[in-house]
Amino acid sequence: MADLRKIAPLGTAVLLLAGCRQDMHNQPRFKPLAKSDFYTDLRSARPPVEGTVARGDLRADSYLYSGMIPGSDTPGEYMPFPVNEEVLARGRERFNIYCTPCHSRLGDGNGIVPTRGFARKPPSFHIDRLRKAPLGHFFDIITHGFGIMPDYAAQIAPKDRWAIVAYIRALQLSQNASADQIPRGQAMPSPMPKFRGDPGSGATLPESAAPSKAQPEEPK
Ligand code: HEC
Repeated sequence: MADLRKIAPLGTAVLLLAGCRQDMHNQPRFKPLAKSDFYTDLRSARPPVEGTVARGDLRADSYLYSGMIPGSDTPGEYMPFPVNEEVLARGRERFNIYCTPCHSRLGDGNGIVPTRGFARKPPSFHIDRLRKAPLGHFFDIITHGFGIMPDYAAQIAPKDRWAIVAYIRALQLSQNASADQIPRGQAMPSPMPKFRGDPGSGATLPESAAPSKAQPEEPK
């Protein structure tokens, strides 16, 4: 009996402690976007601390994200990463998705949207000024828009923007290349078609003078 009296307080303590137990599956928490009286702005969802950097998004390479030579407002004439076939293929794919509705696959500004009442026709990428425009200029326009053209910063990630820029340069070359730019010993990949008469407006297929058998395949 004396023993029981000794351990009774201990037993009570154990029972009381058990009452305070809180399992992990039952944590106090806020429902998403619920009100909280704890914070002065009453928002339970806290904004990230100023200067928070999302993982992998430090943006230490300012050129990659702006196209401007670091410490200046001058667009640069170099790519922030090397261009290979893969980059160009990606650029062509993104360009064809996002830019061709207005600029056309050729980049001459004859996309479908400007022909259906869009306020202004985009300039051709093959005019002298845009052929000489630095790469950073194109990056900047995709990032911030230009005149009535909206920006594509939300739709196109920075690396894809650069891939498009590289592809635009390739497009420009494709419309302005001359035979002497082809490496010695290599044939012209796609010789200019010869037309019988006027090639027309593009609404109907032009008549070829002689069907060329070397129709270049669409690159993969
Ligand atoms: C909704 C139609 C539309 C789309 C889509 C569009 N553009 Fe444009 N773009 C325009 C128009 C219109 C202009 C001319 C703007 C003006 O003069 O106000 C223009 C101008 C430009 C210019 C010329 C800037 C200069 O210096 O004259 C470039 C380069 C350009 N766009 C690149 C792009 C690229 C790259 C894309 C795809 C990511 C794209 N645009 C998508 C309509 C469009």
